[in-house]
Order: sequence, then C-alpha cells, then structure tokens
Amino acid sequence: MRLSKETERKITEMLSEMTVEEKVAQMQQVSYESFRPEVFERFCKLGGGSFLHVLGEEADAIRAQAAQTRMKIPPIFGIDAIHGHSLLNGAVIFPSQLACACSWNPELIEEMGRVTAREVNADGLDWVFSPVLCIGRDTRWGRVDETFGEDPYLVGVLGAAIVKGYEEDGLVAACVKHYIGYGEATGGRDSYDTEVSMRKIREVFLPPFRKAVEAGTSTVMTAYGSVSGVPMTVHGKLLRKVLKEELGFEGFVVTDWYNVGSLRTKQKAVESYRDGVRLAVEAGNDMSMNSYQFYDHAIALAKSGKLSMKYIDEAVRRILRVKFSLGLFDESKKRLPREVIGSAAHVEVNRRLTRESMVLLENNGILPLKAQPKRIAVIGPNADDVRAQYGDWTFFSHPHESPADCMPSGDYYTVLRGVRTVFSESEVVYAKGCDVMEYSDDAMLEEAVALAQSADIVICVIGDCLKQNGESRDRANLELSGRQNELVRRLKETGRPIVTVLVNGKPLCIGEAVRNSDAVIETFNGGDLGGLCAAELIAGKWNPSGKLPISFPRVSAQIPCYYNQYPGWHGDKYMDVEQGNLYDFGYGLSFTSYAYSDVTLSSATAKAGDVLTVSVDVTNTGGMDGYETVQMYYSDRFSSVLTPERQLCGFQKVFIKAGETVRVELPLAVNDLSLVDAWEQTVLEPGVFDIMVGGNLKALKTAELVIESKS
Ligand code: BGC
Repeated sequence: MRLSKETERKITEMLSEMTVEEKVAQMQQVSYESFRPEVFERFCKLGGGSFLHVLGEEADAIRAQAAQTRMKIPPIFGIDAIHGHSLLNGAVIFPSQLACACSWNPELIEEMGRVTAREVNADGLDWVFSPVLCIGRDTRWGRVDETFGEDPYLVGVLGAAIVKGYEEDGLVAACVKHYIGYGEATGGRDSYDTEVSMRKIREVFLPPFRKAVEAGTSTVMTAYGSVSGVPMTVHGKLLRKVLKEELGFEGFVVTDWYNVGSLRTKQKAVESYRDGVRLAVEAGNDMSMNSYQFYDHAIALAKSGKLSMKYIDEAVRRILRVKFSLGLFDESKKRLPREVIGSAAHVEVNRRLTRESMVLLENNGILPLKAQPKRIAVIGPNADDVRAQYGDWTFFSHPHESPADCMPSGDYYTVLRGVRTVFSESEVVYAKGCDVMEYSDDAMLEEAVALAQSADIVICVIGDCLKQNGESRDRANLELSGRQNELVRRLKETGRPIVTVLVNGKPLCIGEAVRNSDAVIETFNGGDLGGLCAAELIAGKWNPSGKLPISFPRVSAQIPCYYNQYPGWHGDKYMDVEQGNLYDFGYGLSFTSYAYSDVTLSSATAKAGDVLTVSVDVTNTGGMDGYETVQMYYSDRFSSVLTPERQLCGFQKVFIKAGETVRVELPLAVNDLSLVDAWEQTVLEPGVFDIMVGGNLKALKTAELVIESKS
C-alpha cells in the first residue's frame, strides 16, 4: 500500500481530532444479518467503520448516514466475494477456488480477481473477503473447496495472483484469510484447535501469507481456531510480531465472525468479554467483526487506561490507510456502471478459466467422442443441480439459504444444459437416478437404467451436494454417498459407454465409480459454465489441461494423503488398502502426450540469493495441440530437520503444437530451497539437492544441484 506523506500526515491530523468513541467506532464491523435492527441502526448513526453483507443501495444509504457524522469517515463495505461477486444473483459465478487451482494458471486467476473487483465495485462495495490461503491437507474439513489445494507453494503463487487482480486497479481491497493454520484443525473439524508447532507454521502455513503481503493485500482475517492451544484472536506472536513486524504487513487485521465474543463463550479463554476485547486488540486485531459489544468495552478500557491508546491509534491508522488508498474519502471515487456486472467480457474470462479448470482423470480412448451420438442419456443427481454445481458461498447459501424456487438470473449451464447445447444434433434424455445423500427408491434407479439402455452413450454426473460442503459441514466419510456407486455400477451393466462427470466440493473416494467408467472428468464446483465446459471437453472442442492441486485418497482413513509428507521408516502403506493415492497432486490427462528430456541447470552449484534457470525440452508426442503444465520439484538429500521427498518449487504452463518440442525455462530462486530449522530460523543448508521436472509426480527427470555455503 503506497500512501503519500501528505496522506499519512492527514491521518495523523485526523487521529489528533478524533474522540475515543469515534476511533473505536472505526474498529467495529457490523453485519446486517446478525443483529437486531436497532443495533444495526445504532452503528449506522455512530459511523461504524465497516459493514458486511450489505448490497448495492443499502450501502449508499449507510454511506449517506456516515457523511452526517462529525468526522465524516466513510465506512468500508465488505462482502464474501469468494468466487466472483457470488452473493449477488446476476454476477459472474466463477468455479470455486479449488476448481480454479486446477488451471495452474496464475494469469487467469489474476484476471478472475480483476473481474470480481469490477463487479463488486459496480455494486457499490469496497472489500472482498478473499482469497482463502488455508492449506487443504485434511480433506475431511468442510472448507477444502475454498482453498487453492494442498501445496503451500501453489497456494502462495495463486493467492498472490488473485490479490494482485483484486487490488491493482484500486477498486477493492483483498482480505487474505484465515490467518493461520485454520485448515489443519484437529480431525478436520472446522474451527477446532490446530496442533502444529511454530516450526511447522513457518514451513507450511506462513509462506502463502508472506507472498500475499508482498503482493499488496490490504487486509488479513484472523482465523477462528487456535494454534497449540493459543486462540488465534489473542496470538500476539503470530499477529503482531510475525505478521505485522516480521512480514511488514501495513494494512489492517479484521477478526473473523464473532471471534472476540467467542474467546469467552466458546474457547473459554477469558472470564469477561472486556478481557477478550483488551487481549484481542493488544495481540494485533484492528477491527472486530460482529462482536458488537466490542465497541462499549473498548471505549471503557481506553478511558480507564487499561487498554493503551497506542494500540487503538495504530489500529485506526491502519484502517484509515486502507480507506484512503481505496479513495473512499474522494467523493468522485471511481464506481463502474452496473452494466459491467455479468457482462460478456467478464463471462469470457470465466469461460477461459473454467475450461482450464477441468481435469480429465481417466480416459480409455473414448474421449474425445469420435462421432456425434444419436441419443445421449444424461444421468445422475448432479446432472441438473445448479446449487451443487455452484458449491458454497453464493446467493443460494449466503447470507441465508435462498428459497427453493430461486434460480440464477444470468446464463448458467448444468451438465444437462451443457450437453443439450454442445450436442444440439443429438437427442438428449435425462433421469436423476438417485439422490446424492438419501437412499432413494428403486423406481428412480430403474428409470435411469432403462434410459441408459436406450442410449448410445451415458454421461453420469455424481458427486456431493451443498449439505456436505462448506463451513461447519465437515465429513468423516468421504465415500460417495447415497446410492451413487450402485447407480454407476448398474449403468455399466447396460454395456453402454459411461463418461462420469464429478461435481463435488473436494476429493471424494471414487475408486469404484472410476472402475465402472470409460472416462472420468473432475469439475469440482464449476460455477456458471461448469456444465458447458464439461460437455465441450467430451466433444473434444479443446484439449483438457487441468491438473489436480490436491491428492485423492482411495479410502477416507488414508487422509492425510498430501504428497509432500516427510519420509517414513517402516513403509508408508496401510496393509489393507492398495498402496498410494488414487490420484496424486499434479495429475491430469490430456488428449495428447508429452515427453520430457534434457533437464539442465544454468549452474550446477549455487549459493543463497542466486536465481538459476532450469531448462527442459518438452515434446508434444501426440496428435493434438495442447497446454502442458511443467512442474518443478526439489528434494534436499540430507537435512538437519526432516524435509519432504518432493516439494514443488516452480511451474509453467506452455502451449505446444502437436509434434513440436519447446525448450521451457523455469526460474529457481535458490532461497526457496531453504528449510526452517529446529530454532525456527529459515536457513539454506549446504549439500546436494535434486531438482526434478516433469508433467506429474510419477514421471520426473532429475538434475543435481550443489549448495556450497550456509546462509
Ligand atoms: C467465515 C469467513 C467469512 C465471514 C464473513 C465467517 O464465518 O469464516 O470466511 O468471511 O464469515 O461472512
């Protein structure tokens, strides 16, 4: 955040004029949904610092009230624009973060951020509660769909890209969340304690936040949970020392929903609300989301000298900085016309990203379809369920569940609609077959089987539903629910070719369905165009390039199964499950094939601070042009603390024509090979490193790098 000296001076001047009440009001965020109307009104009149979940005209009305207050400080309006401005019906709904991560395309994800910022700005709002930088390693957790997957490097690169997209045009502020370790809660249970060491925090969970701070995020949200028993809301070491001092974060920190109140009511970490307020502010929270009693307690604490004014002044300074940097004080602040919302140009960005987000998991050669089928049976509980396809954080589920007859006002394509559009010459028939969760009746199943029997090909769409996905909706059992496995088995018995399309929030245990399918496509929550792009893929309109940002276990109890684990001792397998994951991180098929050769380093030796070039020849050995994601991993052969056998340290997506060879050059910052030692220090240890390059974890070519001196 770059502010002129003059603006900083102006802020200092404002701070000297403001009363304690006016300052604390800036630190209070209130949500329209969570309070009695009179409480909400009170904060509108007082000039509350921020409002949440207010849309369009309501925001204008609150802004007008703020303009009547003595200091005339405009509020900042926050919204959970998680995959597009998705709480607004009519805005472009992008694929979920997890789906977008399958594109491994930071440029497109940055573009998604830019589009979202434009739509949010045109709706009169200023601040998006996105991206989620949690690491999705325990897939029981209900919010894995909101992550960029399991790898800190990939999460960091994609997170920094979207922050840049949100912030670069100065239209909205980003909010990276949930700081920190939230996704790793014990048992995959949302908001529980995270039992990891500070060494682990620095090694795995902090790097994405570091990248986002470097990319200029204006705000950070504190997680619900705790790290090693210390509630994040009062974690002075991680908030004030590490985030603000060490990473140099200059924006402001907002708590998550009711964090301050929960210190007493849920976490039992303080005896009184007031103590919670004091500890939260001292630890480094600048704004309290929705613990509205915060306001009166903070004023009382400040007036009695129990909470130093230096903390309050610092918090307000940070909040005002963000408001100035967004131009909120400027009455002519750029607001884009409402017509940009859902505009054709925005839909086009969504189309490119959704295409690149599709992952082809299996293909026995049936895809792309060689000829237009006469009759296609589209079967399955998720074939025509737009709610399941959108996933969490849209107007369907937030801030309230919308009525059953609510439908998107813009264009959207479930798989059924997509197939009807793409295969317009074919006869397309549809049956649901079964429910996702319930044990539905036989008649439903038999109807689907009969339809399949009558068709030339079956497109079967299964997965999970909104009830199984999202905040507080963790799962202990990740097997396909209801009668879905039975449905695919029965369809297979018809002898018709089966293309299975998965519409789901996160990796499920799909082994049986895979065995009964001729091809499998993973779409996760594909947004408006998920169904259309799946149909296009089946028709071979373009060559799929998506790669998984997360590993798939064979059975639920294999979790965690993320790829970058430490080496074990007595073997890494269970005696009662086939070894290895069903699908690894980085995996995804294409309609062509690629061969890698000649991995070379610009230098075989290096020291801290060097940036090398790793080069490799990649040949498209098949018959179709395509995009390949070249992945680079490293392994530290011997290290003072355990290190993963493979850790991603670079990637590049390249277009290669059929039959052509491209020399791909990947930059390798040697400092990225550092480890966090037993004393929590980040060091580059001398020794031999293997640098591995390839299109997936099972086919990597290696070059050796020697690090000569200790940093
Ligand atoms: C979630 C946040 C979200 C906030 C505001 C919380 O329950 O954890 O991710 O931004 O609500 O809606």
